[in-house]
Amino acid sequence: MVTKTVFQFISEPSDVNYGGNVHGGSVMKWIDQAGYACASSWSSSYCVTVYVGGIRFYSPIKIGHIVKVEAEVIYTGTTSMHIAINVFSRNIKRNDFEKKTHCIIVFVAVDDEGNSVRVPEFVPETEHQKQMEKYAIKLMDLRKNIEDEMKPFL
Ligand SMILES: CC(C)(COP(=O)(O)OP(=O)(O)OC[C@H]1O[C@@H](n2cnc3c(N)ncnc32)[C@H](O)[C@@H]1OP(=O)(O)O)[C@@H](O)C(=O)NCCC(=O)NCCS
Repeated sequence: MVTKTVFQFISEPSDVNYGGNVHGGSVMKWIDQAGYACASSWSSSYCVTVYVGGIRFYSPIKIGHIVKVEAEVIYTGTTSMHIAINVFSRNIKRNDFEKKTHCIIVFVAVDDEGNSVRVPEFVPETEHQKQMEKYAIKLMDLRKNIEDEMKPFL
């Protein structure tokens, strides 16, 4: 099964923020779209977002640059899929992409009534996939602690 979805396109003038670079909201929309495409392809199902975490913007993306959004399945539970997303960009005059943003989104596959449904199991094969699955499991453990800390404020 295909674990990875890659989008490539050019950042447009309509993506601009007040500082002249790409708006963070545009980047988050691309992340959500690529993550959704990846999760729904894996599960062959409509999916909803249950968690977005660890989003980190390393440096700005310029308008008119080539943007590459890579989304990959790194862990599956019973109904959830943990998708790691990296956003890269490059000047059209250069060949090398620079990493700009990273985050993890958890999607759940749902049926027509919005009830969660089982997803195919992700079994890591490559060394990279094994490392990423370990990363997802570690984040899950860390999240439990964070959620406990947040409980009084939710
Ligand atoms: C997705 C939804 C149907 C799940 O409902 P549910 O089945 O009763 O929820 P559960 O508590 O059983 O959790 C379902 C899965 O989500 C996971 N999940 C729940 N909260 C989570 C969190 N904070 N972080 C990561 N995963 C989470 C659970 O671990 C479980 O995964 P698993 O089946 O692989 O073990 C429901 O939460 C929902 O509709 N949420 C709103 C989604 C939405 O509107 N998103 C925004 C627009 S897309």
